[in-house]
Amino acid sequence: MLLSWNRASCFLTLRALGVQIIVFPEDGIHGFNFTRTSIYPFLDFMPSPQLVRWNPCLEPHRFNDTEVLQRLSCMALKGKMFLVANLGIKQPCLSSDPGCPSDGRYQFNTNVVFSSNGTLVDRYRKHNLYFEAAFDTPLKVDYITFDTPFAGKFGIFTCFDILFFDPAVRLLRASAVKHVVYPTAWMNQLPLLAAIEIQKAFAIAFGVNVLAANIHHPSLGMTGSGIHTPLKSFWYHDMEDPKGHLIIAQVDKSPQGLVGTENAAGKMDPTHSKFLKILSSSPHCEKDAQEVHCDEDAEWNMNTPPMFHSEMMYDNFTLVPAWGKKGYLQVCSNSLCCHLLYKRPTLSKELYALGVFDGLHTVHGTYYIQVCALVKCGGLGFHTCGQEITEASGIFEFHLWGNFSTSYIFPLFLTSGMTLEIPDQLGWENDHYFMRKSGLSSGLVTAALYGRLYERN
Ligand SMILES: *[C@@H]1O[C@H](CO)[C@@H](O)[C@H](O)[C@H]1NC(C)=O
Ligand SMILES: *[C@@H]1O[C@H](CO)[C@@H](O)[C@H](O)[C@H]1NC(C)=O
Ligand SMILES: *[C@@H]1O[C@H](CO)[C@@H](O)[C@H](O)[C@H]1NC(C)=O
Ligand SMILES: *[C@@H]1O[C@H](CO)[C@@H](O)[C@H](O)[C@H]1NC(C)=O
Ligand SMILES: *[C@@H]1O[C@H](CO)[C@@H](O)[C@H](O)[C@H]1NC(C)=O
Repeated sequence: MLLSWNRASCFLTLRALGVQIIVFPEDGIHGFNFTRTSIYPFLDFMPSPQLVRWNPCLEPHRFNDTEVLQRLSCMALKGKMFLVANLGIKQPCLSSDPGCPSDGRYQFNTNVVFSSNGTLVDRYRKHNLYFEAAFDTPLKVDYITFDTPFAGKFGIFTCFDILFFDPAVRLLRASAVKHVVYPTAWMNQLPLLAAIEIQKAFAIAFGVNVLAANIHHPSLGMTGSGIHTPLKSFWYHDMEDPKGHLIIAQVDKSPQGLVGTENAAGKMDPTHSKFLKILSSSPHCEKDAQEVHCDEDAEWNMNTPPMFHSEMMYDNFTLVPAWGKKGYLQVCSNSLCCHLLYKRPTLSKELYALGVFDGLHTVHGTYYIQVCALVKCGGLGFHTCGQEITEASGIFEFHLWGNFSTSYIFPLFLTSGMTLEIPDQLGWENDHYFMRKSGLSSGLVTAALYGRLYERN
């Protein structure tokens, strides 16, 4: 068993820095591409922490096949810090148990939590597996929170879970969780689901701190970790350097939210007034086929841009180009209409487009989404809109909004060179969810409202 990252000296340094909790990525200990059988030698046994209070470092002989847990526990103890890691767990079961696999054991993709004295305080078994033949889905969902003396309650889930109601959303709705620890092995998918992009959006959407540890494996497209508060992010994303990176940050115990902030001064802003005026005067729009044109105000009126379709992350988006230095655009699909009011100080030789998708996403997972997205296209042709790009120079000042049928909306916001910026304001206005931003400091790659309709998948 290789635990190359187990370096006691490193833990002593972290302890000296005052680090109180450390999170390791998903799959970091055992790796990838296992079958149910081939992963077996790498699995630890673990008694339920709810039933047994156990310190694997101090009581190593209490249970067999617990070498990884022992090492992790000792690291937590040596470093005097909470430690969260991901490993494979085997759990024998009886054939009288109707869920018991035919080989007589469950195999779970498991996050474990150790307190600063090495005690195993809890575990979370991944619910939304992502094509992981080696593992079973637990029969019951684990809703796990753990308490810490330094920052109160943390929630915990893994990777793909972030897109689903159970356990992530139910956990955050039901308990006073202010922080989430999130081991992940996330394959970046631009323009909407890069690792740091969705991590950050989750922090904003739920007003929590997210401690996201992604495995660093550029050849599999996996990179991007961060310590995200709703207002500030410390992140690492690097597709070139094969070496990973440890992020250390000090964040507030009580995350300051962004959602629902009423920016009183902002209401005076002429662009915001314009947005409010358009919202309240939608009857001026005329409908033709799937598209709606609003010639609401001569100043903002442009020649009606052509509507087109392009594939974005395997979904058939309906789009309109965002030409010119300013404009107002609307584009609809099914029951979602997306709107964009924008200004650009200078024009760049790049194509941007406003796209909408309202439907069931079915590739690499099945889940219903409603999306309004302003994206930079891969090239100058319409068919390039939705392609994966990371560099951009277009500076936009914008309001982006839509009449979503869900309150679960993740604000995605990515700028050039895989950087994150914070929206100026977000929230509901007149049954529309909006995001606004001015003063971008680098080119816009993606600004999107990614809505999830959990009950429709
Ligand atoms: C996993 O297997 C796939 C297909 O067999 C292969 O393309 C990929 O490189 C493998 N990944 C690793 C990490 O070995
Ligand atoms: C561990 O395994 C050994 C060898 O199979 C066995 O003798 C011992 O009783 C086991 N210990 C525990 C605690 O199960
Ligand atoms: C170890 O940590 C656990 C969980 O924080 C706590 O309940 C327990 O009292 C601690 N044990 C000792 C000996 O400090
Ligand atoms: C995308 O949707 C439009 C409108 O429903 C349809 O005309 C077009 O064929 C679709 N494109 C693809 C690639 O499915
Ligand atoms: C969103 O707005 C469009 C255009 O006004 C309308 O047809 C659609 O029904 C609205 N959707 C919802 C959920 O209200």
